[in-house]
Amino acid sequence: NRRYTVAVIPGDGIGKEVVPEGIRVLERAGQLHGFTLDQQWHDFASCDYYLQHGVMMPPDWKARIGAPDAIFFGAVGWPETVPDHVSLWGSLIQWRREYDQYVNLRPARLMPGVPSPLAGRGPGSIDMWIVRENTEGEYSSIGGRMFAGTEREIVIQETVMTRHGVDRVLRYAFDLARSREAKHLTSATKSNGISITMPFWDERVETMAGDYPDVRVDKYHIDILTAQFVMNPDRFDVVVASNLFGDILSDLGPACTGTIGVAPSANINPERTSPSLFEPVHGSAPDIAGRGIANPVGQIWSGAMMLDHVGEHEAAASILRAIETVLAEPRLRTPDLKGTASTVDCGKAIAQALG
Ligand code: NAD
Ligand code: IPM
Ligand code: MN
Repeated sequence: NRRYTVAVIPGDGIGKEVVPEGIRVLERAGQLHGFTLDQQWHDFASCDYYLQHGVMMPPDWKARIGAPDAIFFGAVGWPETVPDHVSLWGSLIQWRREYDQYVNLRPARLMPGVPSPLAGRGPGSIDMWIVRENTEGEYSSIGGRMFAGTEREIVIQETVMTRHGVDRVLRYAFDLARSREAKHLTSATKSNGISITMPFWDERVETMAGDYPDVRVDKYHIDILTAQFVMNPDRFDVVVASNLFGDILSDLGPACTGTIGVAPSANINPERTSPSLFEPVHGSAPDIAGRGIANPVGQIWSGAMMLDHVGEHEAAASILRAIETVLAEPRLRTPDLKGTASTVDCGKAIAQALG
C-alpha cells in the first residue's frame, strides 16, 4: 500500500465545501488503486484565521506544512472582512513564490454531453492547457506610492521578467506541447503596447523554438487572443503566458467550456525541490458560499492532477473518466451548469462512478 502525505488547506467560502468532496473522491480512488493519503489539515490561510490572529498564516507556517508530497488547497478570500491583496499575498501568492511553483498548469476541456455556451461545439473541440508563469511578471511587489492623498499622488508597480524565469516556464510549455498530438504552442504577449518586457518574452520564445522544430509556434497579442478563445477555441492546444495574461486566459478558457467551476489548476515546482500545490482555478465565491451548490469538479479534477504528480496515473485517469460520466448526466450537474445537484450529490456521484 503506497502512502502519500498531503497538506489539506480548505481556506474560505466554497473552498470549505469543495475540498471535502475532493478528499472523498481521492480516498475512494485510494481504496480502489491501493494507496493511502496521510492528510494534515490546516486552518490557516483563511480570513477567519486572519480575524483571530491578525495574520493569514502563523510565522512558522512553512515548518507546519513541512515537506508533504503535495498540497491540496481550496480557495482563499473574503473581501467583506479582509482586503483581497492582504489575504492573497499573505497565502497563495506567497506559497507560489516560496515553493518556487513557477508553472501554473490549467487545462480547459469541453466534456461529453456538457453544452458549451459557444453553440454547436462538441467534446474535444475545446481541449487546451494554459501554462501560466507563476512567480514573477506583472505580479511584482516592486513599486510604491508617493504623495498619497494629494493631487500629485503616484502609484507604480513594475513588471519583472528574468531570463531564468521566462525560459524555465517556456521550456515546460514547449515540452508539454511536444508531448501532445497537436504539438502546437501559442504564446500570449502584448508587444505592441508594452514595449520592453513583452518583446523580451517574444524573443525568448523565438530562441527556444529553435530547440523544438517539431512544435508549431504561434504568437498572439493578448487582446485578439481573448477574442480568438471565444470565436475559435479549437485552434488552441498549449497556451503559454505571463502571470497576469495566464490568469485571465485560465478563467476564459474554462468559461468557454460552460463554467469556471470545473477548472483545475496545478502550481508546480517541476524540479521537486519543494511541494507543488493543487487547487481549482476559481475563488471562494462569496456570492454562493454556504448554500451547498458550488461545483466540486474543479477541486476534484485538481485532485486528479495531484495524483498524476505523485505518480498515481491510473487513479488520476479514472477520476477524469468518472467526472465525464457524471457531467454527461444533466441531473448530476450543479446549478452553474443548469443542473439541480448539490455539491455533495455531485461529489458522491463522482466517487461512486469510480467503481
Ligand atoms: P470566484 O471565482 O470566487 O467567483 C466568480 C464567479 O464564479 C462567482 O459568481 C461564483 O459564484 C462563480 N463560481 C466560482 N466557483 C464556482 C464553483 N465551484 N461552482 C459554481 N460557481 C462558481 O471569483 P471572485 O468573485 O472574483 O473572487 C471571490 C474571492 O475569491 C475574492 O476574495 C478573490 O480574491 C478570491 N479568489 C481566490 C482564488 C484562489 O484562492 N485561488 C482565485 C480567485 C479568486
Ligand atoms: C488565481 C487567482 C489568484 C491569481 C488571485 C486570487 C490572486 O485569481 O489563482 O487565478 O491571480 O493568481
Ligand atoms: Mn485567477
